[in-house]
Amino acid sequence: TDLFAPERPNSKGFDLKHTPTLETIDSARTPWRTDIWQASPRLAEAASPEAAVVVSNPADGTLVGQAAQASLADVEVALASAQPWDAPASERAAALNRAADLYEENFGQIFALLAREAGKSQMDAVAELREAVDFLRYYAARIPDANPAGVFTCISPWNFPLAIFSGQIAAALATGNAVLAKPAPQTPLIADFAISLLHQAGVPRDALQLLPGGPQVGAALTSDSRVNGVAFTGSTATAMKIRAAMAENLRPGSPLIAETGGLNAMIVDSTALPEQAVQSIVESAFQSAGQRCSALRCLYLQEDIAEDVLEMLQGAMDALVIGDPWHLSTDVGPVIDEAARAGIAAHIDAARADGRLLKQMAIPETGTFVAPTLIGVPGITALDREIFGPVLHVARFKSHELDQVIADINATGYGLTFGLHTRIDDRVQHVTEAVHAGNLYVNRNQIGAIVGSQPFGGEGLSGTGPKAGGPNYLARFCAPDRQKADE
Ligand code: NAD
Ligand code: ALA
Repeated sequence: TDLFAPERPNSKGFDLKHTPTLETIDSARTPWRTDIWQASPRLAEAASPEAAVVVSNPADGTLVGQAAQASLADVEVALASAQPWDAPASERAAALNRAADLYEENFGQIFALLAREAGKSQMDAVAELREAVDFLRYYAARIPDANPAGVFTCISPWNFPLAIFSGQIAAALATGNAVLAKPAPQTPLIADFAISLLHQAGVPRDALQLLPGGPQVGAALTSDSRVNGVAFTGSTATAMKIRAAMAENLRPGSPLIAETGGLNAMIVDSTALPEQAVQSIVESAFQSAGQRCSALRCLYLQEDIAEDVLEMLQGAMDALVIGDPWHLSTDVGPVIDEAARAGIAAHIDAARADGRLLKQMAIPETGTFVAPTLIGVPGITALDREIFGPVLHVARFKSHELDQVIADINATGYGLTFGLHTRIDDRVQHVTEAVHAGNLYVNRNQIGAIVGSQPFGGEGLSGTGPKAGGPNYLARFCAPDRQKADE
């Protein structure tokens, strides 16, 4: 629980004075192409890739690039050639810090890929690059004196295709493991570029191999007895499948570090400062087009202030710029792909049919956009799943119902983020003690945890812990039964 943690970034920051214009960065607009991905020398020679996936820009459908996909035969070669990184800890740390430098130096390519492959607004892209760099430096500075687990599979989602992808890998490499990294199938190009920078920084190719692919490749990488541990971030349903596959195929006790979804709530009581609450609500629900595991899904407004806050909220939504993430003024970009758009649209349509739609904004005609939307609900119990987009459900409560609201939030079984807006100190204490959530935020937004000062992770259906970007994370990547004798 990280109450009142300071918002202090750790990364060196970028010298935006020298930022070339976005057009210069992306001048050629030549589609990226990976015929063979960043593999071990043996796999590079022996690879028998599947047909390449075509990556299109979710904002306008234009071609971004093509990425070769690993076959199951390639997974086998990668497993056979994986070599834990047995360099001294100081050398591993130096390489990860060099990689952080390379990430910063290559910010132009990275911003372009994040915008065009993942639909990230420039504001989100800056935050994501900072987080990736922070993970690299933070883990490099805290390498424990312990043996690696061995071979670690790292599986990541498309919504943080650089930060989460790099954070998992950095932790597994810092502790000396061999890493088999499987990015989300929606974002293979940014993954390939990041791995090329890590190799350039001195991480050996046998210690870090990319296996681009979908669920089949992920399943193969989590059900092989040569794998000693798995770091996974993605949906709760996938985490459960991985847990079952590991239990059947991996050695007992092999660690699964799973960071999964959430049904995140915020409570705003009648003592809250409305302007501050509204800003927090808009950022928490609509930034990154709501495609953050931490995003606000269900807002509880105390009855006496509900009308006023809703009116201000609708006004603040009207000021959001929805459009091409390439433009600096854009607040809300597209969702990742057509499947995601259709799923969220079906949820909104059902709410409209029930007469529960409170507000829906206008969106561009092309691309996979979803309009920021408000839906009225009696409470969080009306939500049976995480809607991963810019859709905010709004409920009202009376003062005497506060404990029931908390009980309903806890009863979802998820426990990722939670927000509270109040001016009553005792209420802060009571609510934050009673709500089960990994990261609790008071009188601010509930997204954008900072590596080091706000370790991030949930409980219950939201994750296994330990928190990423926190002091206990690296220990899970080490072999507990083979601690060094001199410890
Ligand atoms: P997803 O579960 O569909 O996919 C995640 C990854 O798992 C992808 O790389 C996918 O190819 C792989 N995968 C799918 N099936 C697999 C299988 N059977 N075995 C092994 N790997 C498999 O999730 P997504 O749609 O990519 O990401 C969105 C989800 O991620 C949301 O639920 C979000 O809340 C969650 N998320 C959580 C955090 C966190 O820190 N808690 C952060 C970001 C995203
Ligand atoms: N760590 C990300 C956040 O806090 C998911 O929003």
